[in-house]
Amino acid sequence: MGKAVRLDKFLADSGAGTRTDVKKLIQKGMVQVNGEKVKKPELKVDPENDVVELGGERLGARAEFMYYLLHKPAGYVSATEDTREKTVLELVPKDSRRNLFPVGRLDKDTEGLLLITDDGQLAHQLLSPKKHVDKTYFAVTEGKVVPEDIEKIREGVDIGDEELTLPGKLEILKTWGVQMPSASVKSTESEAKWRSEILLTIHEGRFHQVKRMMEALGKTVIYLKRMSMGPLVLPEDFPKGQCRELTKEELAALKEGR
Ligand code: URA
Repeated sequence: MGKAVRLDKFLADSGAGTRTDVKKLIQKGMVQVNGEKVKKPELKVDPENDVVELGGERLGARAEFMYYLLHKPAGYVSATEDTREKTVLELVPKDSRRNLFPVGRLDKDTEGLLLITDDGQLAHQLLSPKKHVDKTYFAVTEGKVVPEDIEKIREGVDIGDEELTLPGKLEILKTWGVQMPSASVKSTESEAKWRSEILLTIHEGRFHQVKRMMEALGKTVIYLKRMSMGPLVLPEDFPKGQCRELTKEELAALKEGR
């Protein structure tokens, strides 16, 4: 037996209209529950077991779990609730019948791919340190990332934890100099500061891991975006702040990796 809900709420949650709209539909005799025409909006239905039909069409044959791909913008915390900050859950379609949560955390200032679900078992497996699910990040650093850093990342770096990080994969995409105004007001000279764009793939999910790994190499991450997690890739044309259900293929690939 699932959780019983009012018929009008169930219909509204299934997208049949507002609570007022669906009450009218019920009064007009357009709704059937288990084959019987019903007239009471307050009737309790069990969404998992009762067959609710509107105009002969079955509604809300409910998926066991939901899986959403979110392009997280900066400024949102990876939590389900927060008294002061905006949370990533605010960007996901409301579904009061589910306990959705983000799978892992991205920092408030980090953008990119975040999986949101109510499938605790899958989340647990994706986050398990034993599974070593790949995560690829795009980052802009202050400080020049040099080819020797590729080797250091491959060997694992000391970020102040008991253990070195697992070997990661670093790719340098671009490096350029920025002219900074000199600290001295009188002088017209300026000094160059280096910036690099990189891709970094890691297999763990330690706290602030990418930022700490780059810090260990003497660079500061000034922009960070997660591009992929396991088989899930942030689509190029998927705008920041958007959220959509995983496709069947994405979900199958994610489950296959279990
Ligand atoms: N590493 C970080 O430092 N921050 C993130 O948000 C994700 C990975």
